[in-house]
Amino acid sequence: MAKKLTVRDLYSLYLDSGAELSKEEIVVDGWIRTNRDNGQIGFIELHDGTVFKGVQIVYKGESEYSRLRTGAAIEVTGSFLLTPEAKQPFEIHASNIVLVGDVDEDYPLQKKRASFEFLREQAYLRPRANTFQALYRVRSVLAMNIHRYFQERGFVYVHTPEITANDAEGAGQVFTVATGAKDPYKDFFGRRASLTVSGQLHVEAFALAFKDVYTFGPTFRAEKSNTPRHAAEFWMIEPEIAFAHLEDDMELIEDFLKYLIRETLRLCPDEMAFFDKFIQPGLLEKLRKVESAPFKRMTYSEGIKILEEAVKNGHKFENADIKWGMDLQSEHERYLTEEHAGGPLFLIDYPKEIKAFYMKENDDGKTVAACDLLVPGEGEIVGGSEREVRPEVLKAKMDKLGNFDGLEWYYNLRRYGSAPHAGFGLGFDRFLSYITGIANIRDTEPYPRTSGTLRY
Ligand code: 4AD
Ligand code: MG
Repeated sequence: MAKKLTVRDLYSLYLDSGAELSKEEIVVDGWIRTNRDNGQIGFIELHDGTVFKGVQIVYKGESEYSRLRTGAAIEVTGSFLLTPEAKQPFEIHASNIVLVGDVDEDYPLQKKRASFEFLREQAYLRPRANTFQALYRVRSVLAMNIHRYFQERGFVYVHTPEITANDAEGAGQVFTVATGAKDPYKDFFGRRASLTVSGQLHVEAFALAFKDVYTFGPTFRAEKSNTPRHAAEFWMIEPEIAFAHLEDDMELIEDFLKYLIRETLRLCPDEMAFFDKFIQPGLLEKLRKVESAPFKRMTYSEGIKILEEAVKNGHKFENADIKWGMDLQSEHERYLTEEHAGGPLFLIDYPKEIKAFYMKENDDGKTVAACDLLVPGEGEIVGGSEREVRPEVLKAKMDKLGNFDGLEWYYNLRRYGSAPHAGFGLGFDRFLSYITGIANIRDTEPYPRTSGTLRY
């Protein structure tokens, strides 16, 4: 019986083993991307999803196979032929093609280059489109590399809960978890519960037991920002390191992101070349530069001065009322990282009023030991900080915010064998946007959830 192989097998096995294997009959199955018949011979471009590239199937022209349509699932039996002169290194000469699953004529993915907006409406079919074949594979490889990075360095992976009673960031952007009962809060947990906005508080407790830990999971924010960078459900990686300060945190962020870029380029060369060619020309060069140069650093206060200067020199911001203490908008972040730094930029020491309660207050009494990493095209992709470990300072902040009740355990961590510690959150989907050049977060997630849409 003929041997069944994937397209991935063909590329790895047959390319290595060379021509002596080419006499074997083989079977491959997959989906038709294109089918054309010039009369004498016909060509099917077959993709099976196991690798970014497809394989060319050659058949006798003007046969029943000419009628097979784009999108149909087929099984091909044929002989494998090396074609050193052609564009592809090999092709399959079909002796038999079986139609496994036909495709109706209204199949939406007919055009070679459909728009992102159109494909978003076809979320259940877009994994078959070239761009999304590349994207979802890079997404998978990236997730694996995140675990590999931490696991190889002894970090413990902690599954922090998705249902929680706290609003870790204190920004009031939580989705409430409720049953259908009359008194939905009391019914199940006996108190108000919500979907997590961050696993940080829970993972801090583990850092104070295992030293180096991380969470990596879905995160939810009821943030009605209709931007290309905000999703209601996204994935976040939150490492936490004990006996460590802000400086150690930034070193970890930089090393981690450079590793992820390097490994994505190494493991997904075809996908990344595709993004470079069709999505963001210059992407590969940009990433190699980021991977090889130190990230720049600047305090928030310096950043404000630069923005004030920019306004003076005629730069148009939507919000041009630049003053110390303001929360930076994406346009300001992008100005600093794109126009000023020309690459990734750590902005540190933010005013305490605009940052979360758990951040360590600096000696100036006005700022906290926070670091946001800003990158061109995206703005903030990482938010991190050293944590406040002085019990009385933390308590005062919690009392002001009114979240001590229910988070007493978090405060207690500062009383029971506390140590300086720091951590950060990397937005997985935003980072994926950054390294693939796919501009909209809606196109980086398999089934995006944003305010106003919940189709699939
Ligand atoms: O800056 P954030 O809010 O930081 C935290 O949640 C901290 N607890 C992290 C920590 O120190 N452990 O969020 C971290 C990152 C942002 O920089 C951004 O990349 C991403 O999460 N993020 C979002 N991504 C997509 N959609 C949203 N609505 C996001 N909100 C935050
Ligand atoms: Mg942030």
